[in-house]
Amino acid sequence: MYPFDYPTQTVFYLVLYGATLVLHVLPMNYVLAGSTYLAFLGVWEALRGPALAQRPIVEVLRDWMPFALGVTITAAVAPLLFLQILYQRPFYTANLLLFHRWMAILPVLIAAFYLLYLQKSKRWHHFSAWVRAVVSVGILCCFAFVAWSFTENHLLSTRGQEVWTEVYGSNRWFYRDPELMPRLTVWYVGAFPVLAAALIAQFWSTGFVRRDENAAPDPVTDPAIRTLAVLALGGLVASVFAGGGYFVFLEEPIRQRLTARDVWPYLAGATLGIIVQAVIWRRVWQRAWIDGRTLTFLCLAVVGAVGSATALREARRTSTIDLNQYASMHVTASIVGGLGTFLLFLFVCTGALIAVVVAVRRGLIAGSQPPIE
Ligand code: HEM
Repeated sequence: MYPFDYPTQTVFYLVLYGATLVLHVLPMNYVLAGSTYLAFLGVWEALRGPALAQRPIVEVLRDWMPFALGVTITAAVAPLLFLQILYQRPFYTANLLLFHRWMAILPVLIAAFYLLYLQKSKRWHHFSAWVRAVVSVGILCCFAFVAWSFTENHLLSTRGQEVWTEVYGSNRWFYRDPELMPRLTVWYVGAFPVLAAALIAQFWSTGFVRRDENAAPDPVTDPAIRTLAVLALGGLVASVFAGGGYFVFLEEPIRQRLTARDVWPYLAGATLGIIVQAVIWRRVWQRAWIDGRTLTFLCLAVVGAVGSATALREARRTSTIDLNQYASMHVTASIVGGLGTFLLFLFVCTGALIAVVVAVRRGLIAGSQPPIE
């Protein structure tokens, strides 16, 4: 089964890379889809007035987006480091050649951070609806730019040295690739089910979701929960179409790689993850309610689908870059040392993040501060 036919050290770095990339992708999806939702709502409210039914979702998003961005960026460092060990020249050299284009991500992310805090501030409601809409759309543009940059970069690094050299020599800012838009679309629409699952988990953990299925319908809670179901189901259907479209678009050797027997478990994992999510969200839509056990299954299905998609993504890259040529460098990297320190900080930092989330959640519950004002 992929990737276990590679040498042990290569497998070690591939697995660590894949696992840490999933940790980046989950909050990144929250940020990408969340900023889209806020931008859409911002424009809607500027045109049509307050959308009261959406308030609970908007309030939670405004509150948590800066934290989600912080987690996205922090969790991105580990895969970035493993990637450089794994792919060496195709990743590292290709990116150095992109220098100014690549560095543009930093000021854009800094601007996005400040705008997110502005969106969260108490002064936010003193601005006119149009100013709020422009800021929210600006935030979305920042994140769309970063997502586009990573996809552009990923594709460029798979295209071979002649292509990087040509892009660098031509002094162009952007690399146009026919695969770019179909690939970015898959990332983009796939972000919505992850966002919806994260939001319903947040609602559930702060007691916003009715604890009793048979309790009287709630005019505030129920529409918000149903909106999440619609977001998730729409995102799942769009992901299936976008994924299928991207697959048809790929060159024949890559299509063969993605349907080879050794990646079937990941195809099955992604399919199962999507089906389980769809079944759960359909029930959530009907009842405007979820219990703790179903929520756990939903979260597992999300992580399973994202993890499987991440493995397929890597199988696609290794069909164009032969990883075996770097196997001896992986062996060298594995004996340099530092594994103990790495594991120590992995556990300490993960523990610290969990502690922060638990402390904030306790504070919200103790202060009887539901996610809406
Ligand atoms: C909100 C900000 C961000 C967004 C929206 C974002 C989005 C993305 C997307 C869409 C991909 C997948 C690219 C593809 O497969 O086509 C990706 C991959 C990745 N991102 Fe992010 N990203 C963000 C921030 C960051 C930051 C700050 C870092 C680095 C510190 C980072 C590191 C990575 C890495 C290492 C990968 C894998 C690249 C590869 O395998 O070629 N991301 N990101």
